[in-house]
Amino acid sequence: MDQSTCPAIVATGLLLALAGPLAQAQTTSESLAKYRQTLAEDNPAELWEMRGEALWNEKRGPKQVSLAACDLGRGPGVVKGAYVGLPKYFADTDKVQDVEQRLITCMTTLQGLSLDEATKQPFGAGTGKKSTMEALVTWIASASRGMKIAPGSTHPKEVQAYKIGQTIFNYRGGPHDFACATCHAAPAQRIRLQDLPNLTDKTDARQSYATWPAYRVSQGEVRTMQHRLNDCFRQQRFPEPGYASDAITALTMYLAQQAQGGDYNAPGLKR
Ligand code: HEC
Repeated sequence: MDQSTCPAIVATGLLLALAGPLAQAQTTSESLAKYRQTLAEDNPAELWEMRGEALWNEKRGPKQVSLAACDLGRGPGVVKGAYVGLPKYFADTDKVQDVEQRLITCMTTLQGLSLDEATKQPFGAGTGKKSTMEALVTWIASASRGMKIAPGSTHPKEVQAYKIGQTIFNYRGGPHDFACATCHAAPAQRIRLQDLPNLTDKTDARQSYATWPAYRVSQGEVRTMQHRLNDCFRQQRFPEPGYASDAITALTMYLAQQAQGGDYNAPGLKR
C-alpha cells in the first residue's frame, strides 16, 4: 500500500465510522416506525380478547356455568354493543353499574363465585398473574368497536351518578390540592411531554374514552379505564380507590357522558 493513499483510506474510514451510527439511527427509527405500524395492524390486545371470549364461555365457579346468561344491559348473553351502553342502571341490583361491577354481579350470582374470587387479580401483572377481569372487559369492549358511545343518562340514578362523577372530577385535595380538572380541564396542557386531554371538551373526551381499554406498550399489558383512573388518582396523590367501587363507576359515568355520541374504537394501543 502506497503511503499517499493513506489519508484517503483514513478519510474513508472516518466517513464509514461516521456513517455507521447514522445508518444505524436511520434503521432504528425505521424499524421503530415499522414496529408501531405492525402493532397498529396487529394489536397484541387481540390475545386478551381471545382469552376473554374463552373465559366468557367457560363453565366456572361452584355452579359450573358460563356467563352466557349474564345480562350486560342488552339482554342475557348479549355482548355486542354492551360496553358502549355502560355504565347504566340495572333494576335487579337497583344500581348504576359499569362493566366491572356488572361482571362481578354475574360471577357472584350466576357462577356462585365469592366477591374475593371474582376480583382476586383485577389487573394483570405478567405471565402467571393474568387477570380474568381485564380479559373479559377487553373482549366485551371489542364487541362495541365502531358503535356510538351511549351510556345510560335518563334514569334518576344515572343522572345522580353523573353528578357524583362530576363532583369527583372537580374535587381538589391531597398534598398538591389537585383535582382531575387541574390536569384535564384546559386545552393543550402538557406534563413531561405528554399531552393531557381536556376531558371537559367533547372532542378530547370522545377521543380518550373511545380508546380504552388499551394495550400499553410500556407495560406489556392491556389496561382498562379503571386502571387508567387508578393511575390518575396516583398522579393526584390520592389513595387508590377500591376496585369496582361506586366512586369509579360514577367517574366513569361522567367520562362516558362527556364522550357521548363518539365512535368507540377500542382496544386502543398506547405508549
Ligand atoms: C397531575 C396531573 C393529573 C391529574 C391530577 C390527573 N391526571 Fe389523568 N392523566 C395525566 C397524565 C400525565 C396522563 C397520561 C397522558 C398520556 O399518556 O399521554 C393522564 C391520562 C388520563 C386519561 C387517559 C387519556 C387518554 O386518552 O389516554 C384519562 C381518562 C384521565 N387521565 C382521567 C383523569 C381523571 C378522571 C383524573 C382524576 C381522578 C385525573 N385524570 C387526574 C395526568 C393527570
